[in-house]
Parts: sequence; C-alpha cells; structure tokens
Amino acid sequence: MFIFPFALTGVSAWGQQHCVGRYCVTLSERELTAEAGLCVVIPCSFTNADEFKPQHVVWYKCEAAKHSCSETDIIFHSNKNTDKKAQAAFEGRVSRLETDVSQKNCSIIINDLKESDSGSYQLRVTGERNEQQDGFTFSQRVTVSVKGIKQKPTVMIPTLTEGQQATLTCTAPGLCSGSVPEITWTWRGAGGTESYITGNSTDFKTENLMGFTQRHISTLTFKSSAEQHNTTVTCKIRFTGETTTEETSTLKVNYVKEVKITGVTSVREGNVLNLTCSVESFPPAHIVWKKVPSNTNLQTRNTDLHNNTGSATLVTLNVTAENSGQYICMAKHLDKTLTSYVNVTLTWHTKIQNGSGCVLQSDALTCVCISEGFPLPTIKWPLLEDHTQYTLITTVSNHTVNSTVSLTVKKHGNSTVECVSNNGNGEERENLLVQKKHGV
Ligand SMILES: *[C@@H]1O[C@H](CO)[C@@H](O)[C@H](O)[C@H]1NC(C)=O
Ligand SMILES: *[C@@H]1O[C@H](CO)[C@@H](O)[C@H](O)[C@H]1NC(C)=O
Ligand SMILES: *[C@@H]1O[C@H](CO)[C@@H](O)[C@H](O)[C@H]1NC(C)=O
Ligand SMILES: *[C@@H]1O[C@H](CO)[C@@H](O)[C@H](O)[C@H]1NC(C)=O
Ligand SMILES: *[C@@H]1O[C@H](CO)[C@@H](O)[C@H](O)[C@H]1NC(C)=O
Ligand SMILES: *[C@@H]1O[C@H](CO)[C@@H](O)[C@H](O)[C@H]1NC(C)=O
Ligand SMILES: *[C@@H]1O[C@H](CO)[C@@H](O)[C@H](O)[C@H]1NC(C)=O
Ligand SMILES: *[C@@H]1O[C@H](CO)[C@@H](O)[C@H](O)[C@H]1NC(C)=O
Ligand SMILES: *[C@@H]1O[C@H](CO)[C@@H](O)[C@H](O)[C@H]1NC(C)=O
Ligand SMILES: *[C@@H]1O[C@H](CO)[C@@H](O)[C@H](O)[C@H]1NC(C)=O
Repeated sequence: MFIFPFALTGVSAWGQQHCVGRYCVTLSERELTAEAGLCVVIPCSFTNADEFKPQHVVWYKCEAAKHSCSETDIIFHSNKNTDKKAQAAFEGRVSRLETDVSQKNCSIIINDLKESDSGSYQLRVTGERNEQQDGFTFSQRVTVSVKGIKQKPTVMIPTLTEGQQATLTCTAPGLCSGSVPEITWTWRGAGGTESYITGNSTDFKTENLMGFTQRHISTLTFKSSAEQHNTTVTCKIRFTGETTTEETSTLKVNYVKEVKITGVTSVREGNVLNLTCSVESFPPAHIVWKKVPSNTNLQTRNTDLHNNTGSATLVTLNVTAENSGQYICMAKHLDKTLTSYVNVTLTWHTKIQNGSGCVLQSDALTCVCISEGFPLPTIKWPLLEDHTQYTLITTVSNHTVNSTVSLTVKKHGNSTVECVSNNGNGEERENLLVQKKHGV
C-alpha cells in the first residue's frame, strides 16, 4: 500500500488530473455545494499503470486537516464482502454511477444529504499488482458543503375554469436516487384559513431518469369553482431528516356570475336616468350598454369595483320620450357574451285636455274630463260625493282617459264642476265650465 502525498498536476479536457507516476485521478469538481435532502454527485475517474488491475473503489470522508483518512472514515466500499464497513450514517446512501471498475469511473452519488455530510472526501482504489493485493489512495480531495435547502418544488397550474376539472402538478426539486419524499398539498381559502377542496384527489408518481436518478411528482385534481379564485395552494415536500421545502401559488379561476342591472327604470320627463350594469367575473368582463334597436354603444362610466366586480353606469340627464324603450347590457367575458335587458319607461304629469267640459240640459248634467299621463291617470269628480245616483263611463285609449259622468241635478247653481286627475306623479285639478242648453 502506498500513498502519494504530493501529486503532480496536469489539466485534462474536463478537469484537473493529478498524477504520481502512472497513477492519476481526475476530480473535475474540487468543491461541490449541495442542499440538504437532495444529493450530490462527485465526478471522478482514474488511470493506473498497466500492471495494476483495479478491483474496488473506496471513498472516505474525514477532516480536511487530516493527512490521510483512516479505515473508520470509510463511507463507501464497492466490495460488499470486506470487513471494512462503511459508517452506519452513510449506509445505503452512496452508490457508484458506474459499477464496472474496468471503466475507471469512480464517480459516486450521495443521497438524502444532511448538513453533517459536509467535509472532505478522499478516494482509494484497490486491486492486484503482480498478483499481490495492492491499492493507492489519492491525496487530492473533494470538498462538499451541504447547505439548507433553497430549491423549491415546481408547481404547474393549468388555466382554471369554473366547473371544470383541473390537475395541478408539483415536482420535487433534485434529481436523486435516495428516499422517496412525502408530498402534501394544502389549500387556504378566503382569508387565508386552512381548508380543503372537497372532492379532490391526489396521485403520486416517480419517474426514473437516466438509470440512476428519479423525479417525484404529485398531482392534485379537483373541480374549479369561483370561490377558489384568489385562494392559495401550497405544495410541501418532506425529505428524510425533516428537511422540508414548499411553494405556494395563488389560484386564478376564470368565472363569471350573472349580469345585474340596478337603478330606477321609470323616470319622470326631465329627470335623470341612472342605470348600472354590473358583473362579477375573472378576468374582468367588458361591459357595454346599447339601446334597442340601435347597435351603437352608449357612453358609460366604467369602474372595476373590489371583489372582481366590473360595472358600467349609464347616466342620461333631462330624460325625454326618446330615452324610453328597451336597453341591453352586454358583458363580454372571454369567449362568452352575457346579456340582460331592461325597459325604461317615461312618466309624465297628467294634463287635462281640451274637449273637457260640462253640458246642462234642463236638470241633466253631463261632464267629460279627458286627461293624459303616464302612468295612466285616475279621474275623480268631487261633485259625486254629494250624489248617489249617477252613471260614470271611463274609456281608455293609449295614455288618455275619458271619464264621462251623467247625473240629474236640481237647481244646479254652480257655473263650474271640478275634475281631479292624478297618476302618482302629480295631481291636476280643473274647473270645467258648465254650458247651459235650453229647450228640447
Ligand atoms: C461515469 O459514469 C457516469 C454514469 O454512466 C457518467 O455519467 C459519467 O460521465 C462517467 N464519468 C466519467 C468521468 O466517465
Ligand atoms: C382533499 O380532500 C381531503 C378529504 O377528502 C382533505 O383532507 C384534504 O385536505 C383535501 N386537500 C386539499 C388540498 O384541499
Ligand atoms: C386576493 O387576495 C389578497 C390576499 O388575500 C387580497 O389582498 C386581494 O384583495 C384579493 N384580490 C381580489 C381581487 O379578491
Ligand atoms: C347614479 O346612481 C349611483 C348609485 O345609486 C350614484 O352613486 C350616482 O351618484 C348616481 N349618478 C347620478 C348622476 O345621479
Ligand atoms: C363579494 O362577492 C360575493 C359574491 O358575489 C359576496 O358574497 C361578498 O359579500 C362580496 N364581498 C364584498 C367585500 O363585497
Ligand atoms: C330638457 O329638455 C327640454 C327638451 O329638449 C329642454 O327644453 C329643456 O331646456 C331641457 N332642460 C335642461 C335642464 O336641460
Ligand atoms: C320590455 O318590453 C318589450 C316590448 O317593448 C317586451 O317584449 C319585454 O318583455 C319587456 N321586458 C321586460 C323585462 O319588461
Ligand atoms: C286648448 O284650448 C286652448 C284655449 O281654447 C287653446 O289655446 C289650445 O291651443 C288648445 N289646445 C289644444 C291642444 O287644442
Ligand atoms: C295610440 O298611439 C299610437 C302611437 O303613439 C298612435 O299611432 C295611435 O293612433 C294612438 N291611438 C289612439 C286611439 O289615439
Ligand atoms: C268621451 O266619452 C264619451 C262617452 O263615452 C263620448 O261621448 C265622447 O265623445 C268622448 N270624448 C272624447 C274626446 O273622446
């Protein structure tokens, strides 16, 4: 057994080669950093004199200050039948990338890293030389430093649409071959309180890559709902040794609620028509007002309220008859257009019309009161309060009411009869002149 305390150095195509005589090792990375829970690959190759037949590789980890690691520092021995055992702490965590020693590839992967794995790693190759057991230990070492995990899982979220099934995937960081991590999903509803998505299902799978590494993936499948919009989902990975890493993502769910129209739809002439059309949706909907049958958009004041609600307010000052009719609010959301209709009616004061008046022929009094208005007015005759016997005929055409009253009066002395018209917007009183007719 011989050791090369001072190695000669040379530079190969992929790293520094250190030789003593015809025994060389190439450690392409002298300093490696890795993260707890994950793994590290120490790339390594060697060459030897022709008369030496390599059989096994041994890796040690010891204090950097120590001149050469000892047998108690073994972390890996490719000979399973030797009594030179690897430290229990490394048991099952170290493996060679290439098991055929004749390939002179001494690279190893150390899985399930802990911060205590930080240190200085040294290689020894054992074999036969001139039919005698022999071996050589290289003084060149590799320094590995293991830090707390920084890498986060990768969460992939497809476009979420209300009412549709969606599958989120979470991929654990690192391409290693160690223990299978535990992957859990948690959902935080509105207000950040931990809750759960009803009817969800999860699945776990491990993909083998390039022979010696694996990728661990968990999926979460559920039906999206509007209530999930702006809530968060966390994917947490737990490696052996209590190392955890997590990623939190906000869910954006495409949804749209019904189109709502608010405001007073019957307006008095000259007043303000003020209608608001609002839609709660994500992403915001494009809202327009049109007046049927015109196809042009009316001018509106559009706002985006909190709570994902967009609105368009239509304000018409000094309303005239032209402003009455059917209006339509259209909300364009993604590739859908939702509509809602509203009928605007104009109300006006009652007006007692020409053609109203009374005729007294002997003791038969006939009065006609014609009034127009919207809503339709009702006509009252104060005179009738003193009478029980009369006939009253009311006819309606469009917005006009014709109220004709006939009664018998004895000694009617008044020259006028009052007609009162009221439609809720106002009252009009008029004293109708009594025209006296004599004779037959
Ligand atoms: C050692 O073997 C591994 C696995 O086959 C390979 O990826 C790596 O490149 C090899 N290293 C050298 C130095 O040949
Ligand atoms: C999935 O549903 C189960 C109950 O079936 C629940 O315990 C878990 O928290 C849910 N997961 C999520 C992410 O909501
Ligand atoms: C989304 O949630 C965040 C935090 O809970 C909150 O500050 C924000 O206002 C919400 N946004 C919407 C559009 O609801
Ligand atoms: C229209 O109505 C809204 C809500 O009632 C009100 O805030 C706004 O001031 C009104 N606009 C006009 C011009 O009257
Ligand atoms: C947001 O909208 C939902 C449903 O439309 C409603 O229940 C909730 O009260 C609204 N929140 C606020 C702050 O307006
Ligand atoms: C309202 O419209 C009528 C008819 O067009 C017009 O005569 C009147 O001056 C208008 N009033 C106001 C306050 O604009
Ligand atoms: C609005 O008026 C139209 C006819 O002018 C009628 O067909 C429709 O049913 C009315 N809609 C409402 C909501 O009153
Ligand atoms: C109603 O009668 C008055 C007075 O006779 C007249 O000035 C007015 O023009 C008439 N109105 C109509 C609509 O006929
Ligand atoms: C009712 O109004 C319509 C439209 O304003 C008009 O064409 C029609 O002649 C009116 N009918 C009567 C009986 O006045
Ligand atoms: C009002 O009604 C009476 C009775 O129905 C009728 O004789 C009269 O001609 C009507 N007047 C008008 C202006 O329609």
